[in-house]
Amino acid sequence: MKAISNFSDYQELTQLAENDPQSFWLEMSQKLSWFQAPKIAYQGDFHQANVRWFPDGQTNITLNCLDQQMQQNKDKVAIYFEPNDPKEEAVKLTYEELSQQVQECALALKSLGVKKGDVVCLYLSMRPELLISTLACARIGAIHSVVFAGFSAKALRERIEDCHAKIVITNKTGLRGNKNLNLLATVEEATDGLNFVEKTIIYHRPQDQVQLKDRQLDYNQWVAAFAGQQCPAEKMQGDDPLFILYTSGSTGRPKGLVHSTAGYMLWAKFSFESVFQMKSEKDLFWCTADMGWITGHTYFAYGPLLNGVSQVMFEGVPNYPDASRFWQIIEKYQVSHFYTAPTAIRALEAAGDDYVKPYEMNSLKVLGTVGEPINLEAWNWYHQKVGKSRCPIVDTWWQTETGGIMISTLAGITQPIACHATLPLPGIRPILLNEKAEVQEGANAQGHLCIAQPWPGLAMSIWGDQKRFHETYFSTYPGHYFTGDGAKRDQDGNYRITGRVDDVINVSGHRIGTAEVEDAINLHPQVVESAVVGYPHPIKGQAILAFVTTLNEKQELDQEINQYITQEIGPIAKTERIIFTAHLPKTRSGKIMRRILRKIAHNEVEQIGDTSTLVNPESVEQLINQFHN
Ligand code: WTA
Repeated sequence: MKAISNFSDYQELTQLAENDPQSFWLEMSQKLSWFQAPKIAYQGDFHQANVRWFPDGQTNITLNCLDQQMQQNKDKVAIYFEPNDPKEEAVKLTYEELSQQVQECALALKSLGVKKGDVVCLYLSMRPELLISTLACARIGAIHSVVFAGFSAKALRERIEDCHAKIVITNKTGLRGNKNLNLLATVEEATDGLNFVEKTIIYHRPQDQVQLKDRQLDYNQWVAAFAGQQCPAEKMQGDDPLFILYTSGSTGRPKGLVHSTAGYMLWAKFSFESVFQMKSEKDLFWCTADMGWITGHTYFAYGPLLNGVSQVMFEGVPNYPDASRFWQIIEKYQVSHFYTAPTAIRALEAAGDDYVKPYEMNSLKVLGTVGEPINLEAWNWYHQKVGKSRCPIVDTWWQTETGGIMISTLAGITQPIACHATLPLPGIRPILLNEKAEVQEGANAQGHLCIAQPWPGLAMSIWGDQKRFHETYFSTYPGHYFTGDGAKRDQDGNYRITGRVDDVINVSGHRIGTAEVEDAINLHPQVVESAVVGYPHPIKGQAILAFVTTLNEKQELDQEINQYITQEIGPIAKTERIIFTAHLPKTRSGKIMRRILRKIAHNEVEQIGDTSTLVNPESVEQLINQFHN
């Protein structure tokens, strides 16, 4: 099937996918390399939440990312690694070098007895070894579970226990701006007493020496034993799991979304190619996301490699050594396609135009955003100051669960509209439903965003909990996948995502479940109960506001409470503000009225409505006053 090169291709593919999805996706699957090509596109349905893609095909994602690339892209640079410290040496890896290093690491994993279906946890900062070990897992059919190296030991332990990882790979020190994170210490604390974790592999830079303890191995020595050797790719069924990635949900326990081998791969390849439209051999991609999140999986690790393009890998943060770092990197490497989060754009805008002005960035062709709704001011700034008003912006809407981009402008092909994700990709059927499950039609429709038809990128399950997978995504609107987002659609079919409609807060583009934060806050011995909501924040998009009742009135425990959160989850989930109160608004049955708290936090007090059914209606007035103080 041809790639999308103009608007009529887009229309044609959309039509074909709608008419006969089975044949469409089967034909699409020919874009991939297979050990054995599939005869079935998918089986199952949304009612059962049991859709399986390409179940009778056999492939391996590294066959496509690496072996396939040896034919034409052997000497092409796959990765330009830019270290946190601009003075440290930058490293290049060609496709051939990457492939070789992955195979050595794959053999090293095998030597420890890791086999197809075993789980390996990766807790590293954005260094090439993270990419290499991730691909090495895929090479031998081990399921990788990358955990963002900013999560606390407690959060890491919870994830390692949930997926029963046999091996943990980490690096001694994670460098982020002027911070040195001792990742190894976090792993040691997280795995203490977990006997099923057989080995911890430690990568370290020459300057960070490590004293190895029991069951620890030095990454460099470990892979050195296999220098120059080959490790053929394991044959995987299309619907074998490729990876687990944890994300927050509306209960306290994070969900390990499981993505499949072939469906995920096809969606990563097709969505990357269609949205970003990297056409010239000179084009260079840069996605700033960390591999600890889905964006780093699909548009750093897999999408670009599947399409044989060159890309930048960046270890650091946007404002180190100063707020021009992104623009320097774009000029240094001549980046053509740049993909980042609105929160980074807002932070860099706030730093002042002087940081961006000196950089012409003539190489830039396409700008992308992901992770949260972008506000008009930030969109304009990105368009004018970064793209110098000549680059289309692709505002890409998608989720950990969806595997890849679902609704987005296709660069140069469909029309961008500020702050709108715009149109669905071919094969994606969005639908807006109201609370009574009635379909919202016509111009200016608004409702809960659902997807009406299977597509290859959707996660297969929640690790070890198929029931929760069904309940979370397929029970609110039977027969549909429910995204948890609200959206609007204009007369031309363009979507604008309005944000989460569930108990998930999007802080700087990171999903945080309110229940997780409440659980952490409630651990403080002085706390009686708490309710957490999101509220608008000029840089973070949303920030966390906690309403807390304590044993002794007038306790100021902000710092201590945030310490609990840092310990339980990590600093990303810290509260922006805590309001201490004697009473939370409750129904007669004792339920905290979070809806009212959300209205207070959004300054929509006129929409609170009738409070007479509460046990303590006077608490509402009091909280409104406190919020404004
Ligand atoms: C939000 C990130 C508006 C949305 C890829 C979604 C967006 C959640 C956009 C998923 C966008 C993502 N416009 N909102 N372009 N992209 N979101 O799982 O609320 O980390 O449900 O995946 O981010 O976050 P996740």
